[in-house]
Formats: sequence, C-alpha cells, structure tokens
Amino acid sequence: MTSLDDALALVRTVPDFPSAGVLFRDLNPLFASAPAFRAVIDEMAAQLPADVTVIAAVEARGFLLGAALAVTTGLSLIPIRKPGKLPAVADRVDYALEYGKATLELPADVLPAGAQVAVVDDVLATGGTVDATCQLVERAGATVSVVSVVLELGALGGRDRLAGRKLHTLQTI
Ligand code: PRP
Ligand code: HPA
Repeated sequence: MTSLDDALALVRTVPDFPSAGVLFRDLNPLFASAPAFRAVIDEMAAQLPADVTVIAAVEARGFLLGAALAVTTGLSLIPIRKPGKLPAVADRVDYALEYGKATLELPADVLPAGAQVAVVDDVLATGGTVDATCQLVERAGATVSVVSVVLELGALGGRDRLAGRKLHTLQTI
C-alpha cells in the first residue's frame, strides 16, 4: 500500500513554468500512480466533514480529484468551469491568478440552495481560484463547509483569502 507521504513525494517541482520566476508544482506523476492517487483520495474523503452534500470541483485539475472523491463518497459533483464551456450559466466571477486573469462559472440548475459544499482543487496558491469558487457557491445560497486541496503553497498567502472558511490541505510547502 502506498502511504500518503509516498504519494505526495511524487509531486514534481518545475522551475519557470508557465512563466519565468514561477516554481510550478506538477501533480501529474501522482495522478499517474494508481496507488498514490488512491491514497490521496482516501485521505481527502476521510477529512470531509460529515455535513457535506456536494463536491464543487474546479476546472481542470480539480475535476480529477473532485470526480474521484464524489464517486468514492457517493456525493454529488458540480464542475466549476472556465468561461465559454457551459450551455447554461447560473453565475460567473472574475479573479486574478498568480500568472494571469481568469473567470469561473457555475452551471445553472445544479446547486441546491442550502447545500453544504466541499470546494476541491489540486493546489492553493494565491487563493484566487478557490475564493472565486466559494463566492459562486455562497451567491447561490449554499454554504462552503470546507475547502479541500492537496497542496498549499504557503508563501503565496492563499489561506488569507479564504476569510475564515475551513481549509483542509494534505501538504503545505
Ligand atoms: C491552477 C490550480 C488551481 C489554481 C491555483 O489552475 O489547478 O486551480 O491554479 O492558483 P490560485 O490559488 O493562485 O488561484 P490553472 O488556472 O493553472 O488551471 P488548470 O487546472 O486548468 O491547469
Ligand atoms: N502548481 C500547480 N498549480 C498552480 C501552481 C503550481 O505551482 N501555482 C498556481 N497554480
């Protein structure tokens, strides 16, 4: 059995991607190892608060984790999408990234008001992506029960953007 530490040790550090000065943490070797991916999903599932009813997963890498977590736990899955992909949009939020600007959209008619939501992504960097997702969830009348990520890049201060929301990370570097 692969331990969580062994799984997290597969994360690769790539300098100067996608632009000079950015130290990019690449989770692809972890996803490519079935036992490592299993160890990560099992731990994320174990950490989910009991009140969670919906997984909101952020495009694109959050989809991998969120989908696996939804199937493992039996919870429903809502993909939070980049612009231009959804046939029906409930709401959108523009935000700043470590290396650019972005917009996220909530699909129409899938998030019940009153849902207890786990927001799932691979990496918390500046926190802009997760904060935008939390805004979409809360503007729809649902509650963010927890934000769950594999990796927190502590120096980028994402935790401070979460304004008191509960954060679970498997590793902070
Ligand atoms: C990355 C990562 C997170 C986000 C973290 O996604 O997967 O979603 O950036 O950064 P932040 O905390 O500064 O917002 P990216 O936008 O590169 O998209 P991708 O998943 O489609 O590769
Ligand atoms: N790795 C993966 N995703 C990211 C990173 C990173 O270092 N920074 C912002 N999003």
